Amino acid sequence: MKELPKVGFGTWKLDKNNCSKLVYEAIKIGYRHIDCACDYGNEIEVGIGIKKAINEGICTREELFITSKLWNTYHKKEHVEIACRKSLKDLGLEYFDLYLIHFPISLKFVPIEERYPPEWIYNPSSTEAKMEVEHVPLYQTWEGMEFLVKDNLVREIGICNYNCSLLHDLMSYATIKPKVLQIESHPYLTQENLIKTAKNYGIEVVAFSPLGALSYFELDMAQKEDSLLEHKSILELSQKYEKTPAQILLRWAIQRGTKIIPKSSNSNRMKENIDVDSFLLEEPDLRLISSLNKNKRFNDPGKFCEAAFGTFHSIYD
Ligand SMILES: NC(=O)c1ccc[n+]([C@@H]2O[C@H](COP(=O)([O-])OP(=O)(O)OC[C@H]3O[C@@H](n4cnc5c(N)ncnc54)[C@H](OP(=O)(O)O)[C@@H]3O)[C@@H](O)[C@H]2O)c1
Repeated sequence: MKELPKVGFGTWKLDKNNCSKLVYEAIKIGYRHIDCACDYGNEIEVGIGIKKAINEGICTREELFITSKLWNTYHKKEHVEIACRKSLKDLGLEYFDLYLIHFPISLKFVPIEERYPPEWIYNPSSTEAKMEVEHVPLYQTWEGMEFLVKDNLVREIGICNYNCSLLHDLMSYATIKPKVLQIESHPYLTQENLIKTAKNYGIEVVAFSPLGALSYFELDMAQKEDSLLEHKSILELSQKYEKTPAQILLRWAIQRGTKIIPKSSNSNRMKENIDVDSFLLEEPDLRLISSLNKNKRFNDPGKFCEAAFGTFHSIYD
């Protein structure tokens, strides 16, 4: 079984115009895990970057760990394979190392020929455009995911944005166990119980948005004062260890046993984010960072679905 690299490269909001170049650059810098998704709308461009890196002999396909995600509109068992094959085709790949259910949220099916990626709103051109939930039991979606493994389209499967209860439920019926749980986690959202629950089941945890609020500013889902990079304790640790505030946050994530997938559109920051093995945070400093927790979630469907898509649909209590 291929090992999941400690630090991967996130591709959400990579601009289509320079996405291929950035993915190629990331691989050249040393990233081997690329975190993709249908919903990011850039899988064709990510695939071009991957292909260029492989063609130039920077690495082989086998040395890469490519993740993609099943979008919410494809939760019915019969749609899972269609969605996976479309992502594979766009990326120019024959298999995924990991395929994840993106959200435990099922939305009404939109055929690929009609609109791709379908995003959140069912009928965007209507005057009453809104999100349309369709109640598909998650065990049926998981059955579709297991079929992908049997069909050799994907090596491993997993979930994102599940809470402890959903995880317990999944473990009661999964015949192929999830390899990874991908969740938002940073010092303002430490998710200790969820991480412990996943680890007890032998599921690896990948932290998304490991830098906290930063990627949510442009979406108006976070305020400048939410930035962990400006937090007094993080700035002090940055001085103590002679590392950037971002490296302090990422190193903390690694030392507590999560893997990370920071995104950057800047090659210096890409280098900075992957260089997290050159120092060790002392135990009291790890505890200090963990104590910043305030259960502050930036990626919360309970907030953004209502604000942006006209439908209240919470998945967290
Ligand atoms: N499964 C899910 O539901 C889900 C949800 C969200 C994200 N994800 C995945 O997780 C990845 C990472 O999460 P994310 O993109 O939300 O957040 P992130 O990686 O924590 O932060 C990205 C933001 O931080 C900036 N940044 C990156 N490195 C920096 C550094 N060293 N110093 C200062 N600023 C830095 C980036 O700007 P620049 O680009 O300008 O550097 C960008 O604004 C995503 O790309 C996606 O692949 C998954």
